[in-house]
Amino acid sequence: MDKIIIRGGKPLNGEVTISGAKNAAVAIIPAVLLCDEPCRIENVPEISDVATLIRIIYELGGRVKIINGSTVEIDPRHINSFVVSADMSRRMRASSYFIGAMLGRFKKARIAPPGGCNFGVRPIDQHIKGFELLGAKVIIDNGMVDARAAELRGNSIYLDMVSVGATINIMLAAVKAKGLTVIENAAREPHIVDLANFLNSMGADIMGAGTDIIKIRGVESLHGTTYSIIPDQIEAGTYMVAAAATGGNVLIKNIIPKHLESIGAKLEETGAIITEFDEELRVIGRGRPHHINIKTMPHPGFPTDMQPQITTLLSVADGTSVVTEGVWDNRFRYVEQLTMLGAHIKVDGKVAVITGVDRLSAAPLRAYDLRAGAAMVIGALMADGESSIENVELIDRGYEKLIEKFSALGADIKRITYPGPSIMSDAL
Ligand code: EPU
Repeated sequence: MDKIIIRGGKPLNGEVTISGAKNAAVAIIPAVLLCDEPCRIENVPEISDVATLIRIIYELGGRVKIINGSTVEIDPRHINSFVVSADMSRRMRASSYFIGAMLGRFKKARIAPPGGCNFGVRPIDQHIKGFELLGAKVIIDNGMVDARAAELRGNSIYLDMVSVGATINIMLAAVKAKGLTVIENAAREPHIVDLANFLNSMGADIMGAGTDIIKIRGVESLHGTTYSIIPDQIEAGTYMVAAAATGGNVLIKNIIPKHLESIGAKLEETGAIITEFDEELRVIGRGRPHHINIKTMPHPGFPTDMQPQITTLLSVADGTSVVTEGVWDNRFRYVEQLTMLGAHIKVDGKVAVITGVDRLSAAPLRAYDLRAGAAMVIGALMADGESSIENVELIDRGYEKLIEKFSALGADIKRITYPGPSIMSDAL
């Protein structure tokens, strides 16, 4: 029910510190199930997707200690359930990682099909193919995915398309399988490498993460570890685009510059100045962006999770830009919201043609999904006048302290909290 209110037109200036990576955290937390001892995880982002996973761990019988906002200790020793409730699993896509982790731990898992952002059909056939090749039987029973194996045995698994989720889920199931698993055509995203590093720090034997062939030699057991999650590539990219889009000058801290190369390269093509340091990067926006063309692709290509944000920037470019979505079938639904700000964008299937306009002007907006929500924030920061954004809960899934971080950069931004349905029903 909450709303964000933004009075746009102010350049962002100052410093912002990037939080831990959502898509690494949401793989690493379920992975703790595979461990025989407690694990301490640092640089965990305080976002609602992480809160959902922690709740699932509790519901399964695990113990979680929040040491401070960004460090959690998870003790998986008392987890005795292999069932994730439909209420929890439908809240997010990454709940599917409990299938791989539970198969690895219990040789069985039962969860409702995962939810998450709606970009059209989001199948898990490649995950299932991987589990089956490892020896599991997977059926859909009463609306639940039910996976069981007498024993998991390593195998060669070729993914029909590059899938982050399938690569992660198969890694999780294979870590304690007997023998060698080889994932071919694996995804290469930074969070895949982070998960592999986390599992290896517990005693797993994974090689090749970050390339398209990952080799996992099964081990008997995993021991406790302390591990710090990598910084969030997409959160950093979002602040980079916001800095460029408002003609600002922002130092983005706690980043891995290598992860931001494709985003930085495209922003430079639009005319922004990017200066890299060891763990920081400065973005200076310079007037109207040049028009450019972009196609989103799996890593190391331009990330699909930055597509709505960069499309928003290009809505005021000095000509016509073409953005092609190369990962999802239906990720341009938010464009109608940008047109309310005055953008001229025509979408045909997976291609958006953006004719740059001189300026955007404020409008009432809504977030359709997490990254589209971030794009609405950027659009509202660029627009003259006061915009509002509804469905803020979707943005909470992946951006830690968004209001505080943008405010510290000089944005005129606030959140209004309205009584929601639960408060109403409590009152009645
Ligand atoms: N696909 C299949 N079958 C499968 C799996 C995937 O056909 O079994 C298709 C998908 O439909 C899609 C493509 O393969 O067209 C890639 O999907 P992928 O499996 O890589 O996506 P995902 O694992 O569901 C993760 C991120 C998304 C991000 C994509 C692509 C997490 C929790 N989610 O999703 O992040 O867009 O990879 O990089 O890691 C976000 O953070 O906002 C977000 C949506």
